[in-house]
Amino acid sequence: MSSTEITDPGTTQLTPLTPLRLREVTVPNRLWMSPMAQYAAGQDGRPTDWHLVHYGARAVGGVGLVMVESNAVGPLHRTTSADLGIWNEDQAAAHRRLTSFITGRGAVPAVQLLAAGRKGSHQLPWHGAGQNGPVGVADGGWELIGPSAVPFGGLSVPREATRADLDEVVEAFAHAARTAHLAGYEVVEIHAAHGYLLHQFLSPLANHRTDEYGGSLQNRMRLPLDVARAVRAVFPPEKPVFVRVTATDWAEGGITLDEATVFAKELAGVGIDLLDVTSGVLVRDREARPPQREGVNVDFADALGKASGLAVAPVGQLGGLTLAREVIGSGRADAVLVGRALLRDPYLALRDRSGDPAAWPAQYHRAL
Ligand SMILES: Cc1cc2nc3c(=O)[nH]c(=O)nc-3n(C[C@H](O)[C@H](O)[C@H](O)COP(=O)(O)O)c2cc1C
Repeated sequence: MSSTEITDPGTTQLTPLTPLRLREVTVPNRLWMSPMAQYAAGQDGRPTDWHLVHYGARAVGGVGLVMVESNAVGPLHRTTSADLGIWNEDQAAAHRRLTSFITGRGAVPAVQLLAAGRKGSHQLPWHGAGQNGPVGVADGGWELIGPSAVPFGGLSVPREATRADLDEVVEAFAHAARTAHLAGYEVVEIHAAHGYLLHQFLSPLANHRTDEYGGSLQNRMRLPLDVARAVRAVFPPEKPVFVRVTATDWAEGGITLDEATVFAKELAGVGIDLLDVTSGVLVRDREARPPQREGVNVDFADALGKASGLAVAPVGQLGGLTLAREVIGSGRADAVLVGRALLRDPYLALRDRSGDPAAWPAQYHRAL
């Protein structure tokens, strides 16, 4: 539980409608939109009308924070050719349409920053029977880097990142955070989960290095912590920085909750404000899939929050909202992130407060 929360006036009972203050940013409620890649970027990774309508509808729909999907921190850090990017001024200008609309609806605009590592340069998910097949350099793809030359499933084999590559990664995240601030985002989130580059460094299943970036947990945390430190240093002090962390790899020899706890404490020391807690998807292995269970990451978030003292928001199978209400009310989480349920229904959060016409836009009042 964060030390900066605000409770409802006259009561200590927390609800999804209780605002949450993080640094100088007050999020108006605790039902948040999880980042979900749309693979719909325009030229040079810029947001398009699709993104404006898609994110705009969820802001109208009453979520307190709209986390715009993973944005690559550089062209070689994308997962596909249709990923959004946040490494230059033209992209920032296009993002400004989104942040201005989201802010105008009273929601907080946030953006996730990504380096794909060995999970880069693949087809759009709806091509090739959803297999995310590799796109080689000869076909317009790009070279991948990873902690080690170990591929993800059938994707291209990454080159083992050099020290110069890692310096570039840290600088690219910092530059992207500066660009996000210029674009009007109030929050940035570093993606250190779901098997992307920073998670690859953390997990012994992808990181076989023998230098100071591999082996011990201290070494495997080095790159993600350098990135977190660099982002925190350049993002304005009044604005929060989140990290999406993995609580477990759900795989033998992978990250466990004990290791995730050590990482969470280190992130607290770096000045990170909130952990967005997820798990799995580091390896393409049916056995290593997160279980189908409502609120699958709630207990992990609770444990990581208590151990680190950081605010936490679990994600994963919370779209039913009953459990979401319970975990917020009991203080096990400070907020919840909802993904697929918000793809199905952009007005999910408003429907949850259907008795309150004031929550709906004035333009829709005659329908209530
Ligand atoms: C279409 C789609 C795209 C996604 N893209 C991202 C992404 O850009 N970044 C991320 O961290 N997770 C991404 N995810 C995972 C979601 O943010 C979320 O963690 C996952 O769907 C579990 O939450 P849910 O059960 O509420 O859907 C994506 C999920 C979907 C369905």
